[in-house]
Amino acid sequence: MRIAVLVSGNGSNLQALIDANLSGQIIGVLSNKADAYALQRAEETNIATAVISHKDYPNRESFDDAMHQQLLAWQVDLVILAGFMRILTPSFVSKWQGKMLNIHPSLLPCYKGVNTHQRALNTGDRLHGCTVHFVTAELDAGQSIAQSAIQVGLHDSVTSLAQRVHELEHFIYPQVAQWFCTGQLTWQNGQAYFNQKPLERPIQFAQF
Ligand code: GRF
Repeated sequence: MRIAVLVSGNGSNLQALIDANLSGQIIGVLSNKADAYALQRAEETNIATAVISHKDYPNRESFDDAMHQQLLAWQVDLVILAGFMRILTPSFVSKWQGKMLNIHPSLLPCYKGVNTHQRALNTGDRLHGCTVHFVTAELDAGQSIAQSAIQVGLHDSVTSLAQRVHELEHFIYPQVAQWFCTGQLTWQNGQAYFNQKPLERPIQFAQF
């Protein structure tokens, strides 16, 4: 299984994936930002990197096509979005449907999009967490595979929630990636399967 990880920033999830020694191999790390710290993490582990800046392309289609060409050149079987901060075109997503995962810092379907920690605090949620899902054309709406939750404390802030949710992410994302690498997790006819059975609801990891 040849894996590409798409990043835009710090790359702590990339680091967790590297450290997990997956059955698959991370072939390349692609960033839309040349100064993403994630690129340094890849270089330190001798993983190939590519920078494709969205600013060099006139529209989303041509930017996505450049990324697609790089993924083809790397002969990728699995695309992992790990803090990749660009919205993907339906055309790009359809080419990688069933082979592309994302992690989102909320218990989807709550709080698609940005500022998830602030929105969970504003609502007064007692539970918050993260979700790994297959990527489909609609933002953060592909089928959820796994979730992990924390209890929100009275003293939690955006900063503390971000840090606590990140810890969950570093645990569940490598686990889900490994399921994909071993064939336990598959996508067939627009539906996620786990151990050959249709996945009816996201797998819940123990609460922390
Ligand atoms: C994570 O919170 C992830 O859920 C979101 O972007 C953030 C990436 O963090 N999609 P990092 O770059 O992996 O540290």
